[in-house]
Amino acid sequence: MTKSDKVLIFDTTLRDGEQSPGASLNMQEKLQAARQLAELGVDVIEAGFPVSSPGDFEAVRRIAKEVKGPEICGLSRAVKGDIDACWNAVKPAKKPRIHTFIATSDLHIERKLKMTRSQVLERAVEAVRYAKKFTNNVEFSAEDAVRSDFGYLCQVVEAVIDAGATTVNIPDTVGYAIPLEYGDMIRRLIQRVPNVHKAVISVHCHNDLGLAVANSLAAVAAGARQVECTVNGIGERAGNASLEELVMALKTRRDLFGIGTGIRTQEIAKASRLVSKLTGMVVQPNKAIVGTNAFAHSSGIHQDGVIKYRTTYEIMNPEDVGIEESTLLLTARSGRNGVNNRLKHLGYHISAKALEKLFEEFKALADKKKYVFDDDLIALVEEEGRSQTETYSLVYLNTSSGTGVVPTATIRVQKKDEVLQEAACGDGPVDAAYRAIDKITGVKPKLLDYTLRSVSSGKDAQGEVLVKVEHGGMIVSGKGTSTDIIEASAKAYLNALNKIAASSSRPSKAGTVKERI
Ligand code: KIV
Ligand code: ZN
Repeated sequence: MTKSDKVLIFDTTLRDGEQSPGASLNMQEKLQAARQLAELGVDVIEAGFPVSSPGDFEAVRRIAKEVKGPEICGLSRAVKGDIDACWNAVKPAKKPRIHTFIATSDLHIERKLKMTRSQVLERAVEAVRYAKKFTNNVEFSAEDAVRSDFGYLCQVVEAVIDAGATTVNIPDTVGYAIPLEYGDMIRRLIQRVPNVHKAVISVHCHNDLGLAVANSLAAVAAGARQVECTVNGIGERAGNASLEELVMALKTRRDLFGIGTGIRTQEIAKASRLVSKLTGMVVQPNKAIVGTNAFAHSSGIHQDGVIKYRTTYEIMNPEDVGIEESTLLLTARSGRNGVNNRLKHLGYHISAKALEKLFEEFKALADKKKYVFDDDLIALVEEEGRSQTETYSLVYLNTSSGTGVVPTATIRVQKKDEVLQEAACGDGPVDAAYRAIDKITGVKPKLLDYTLRSVSSGKDAQGEVLVKVEHGGMIVSGKGTSTDIIEASAKAYLNALNKIAASSSRPSKAGTVKERI
């Protein structure tokens, strides 16, 4: 196997991660995420599945053109049309990669592909040979490898390496493997395939049994030198192996693995926040590495221990993943410079004009709250960013509710030069507000999910609402923040409706339903 002095991090947040329901990103969002992945130092960005839709093709092409540092990869089935589209999208990159795949388990071969083992083998070899005409950097994945006949899988791996694959991926597509078994499988495969030294062996684990990271680590211990993962572990169904968990496990237990990654771990928290913000997928508080409680000690004994000597209860330094103590620096008396410096410190560089606008918002917030925490400031910048691209923005909200009162809401919304107003009754003030918004926009999506959380601490904390709605087969998320939770709810709903409005104003992609793997 090609020797590597580090485990290569292949990030598929923008391909497998984006396949999470409701997580779809637009071009600007993908570019923003890809730039942060480059800051993080991932080795490969799988930027999308170019043949699946014109939007995906364009996003991969723009990332290939504009994002410097990592290899830029696109996914393609083992068919010429997919490989052509993939190459056309990734070719502007300095280091392009074509990733082609076909399933190798009998279940998939017979039931899904309606082919035979020998036809699949032939197709895999043809696809790799065809991709090699464009670039030397070709990855092959044996989809559902874990449930494939081991002898046949080894035969396919040997054949695709002979055809020129430089990376061969052995995915646990359905998250079925157990660490001991998966590690053993990778070890045996490396021993058995005679030309394995000519390629990097990669792993790609799904989290259906909650074992994606454990399985990937077992594979690294067995000799795999590329892991495929996503920020926050997002992805199809229960998700993919989480990048931050893998990287920090390899770093923290280097004594055991004897190998690390090239990741700039201090960028992890920022990447996690960005992916959560863009996809609307909230990170659970107890999530390892990036959850808000990951470094919080609540029991007295633990607090006492950490104060006396940090490592008594902390195996990692929060600063190593870019998490700092939230500092209560800003109040109503803070000036523009103080706000701008704090923003820069948090990684937000905004124009003088944007700062003026944001500073007004900050003052209004600081009048309502005693302290403006880092998280409040981040919520403000994000809210401001959202409002700039929106078709509808909230200008007025009045609700009345209470025991024995019929909940009602009056809403006024700005749509370009028009101000539209409607009132409605509902089951509660949020429902009434949503009904009034439905009347204004003429869109009546189905509310699939509603989450409310506090952005920072204290009774005066801002509320952040996340919604997921479905309209015409499309699932989108929306986010809104305010010290008033009904207002936050209305903003979140409008944010989702704005995404629906934006997508319906894009040119139609008739007949090109976005393919999901
Ligand atoms: O899970 C899987 O098998 C995949 C392949 C396309 C690599 O995502
Ligand atoms: Zn996958």
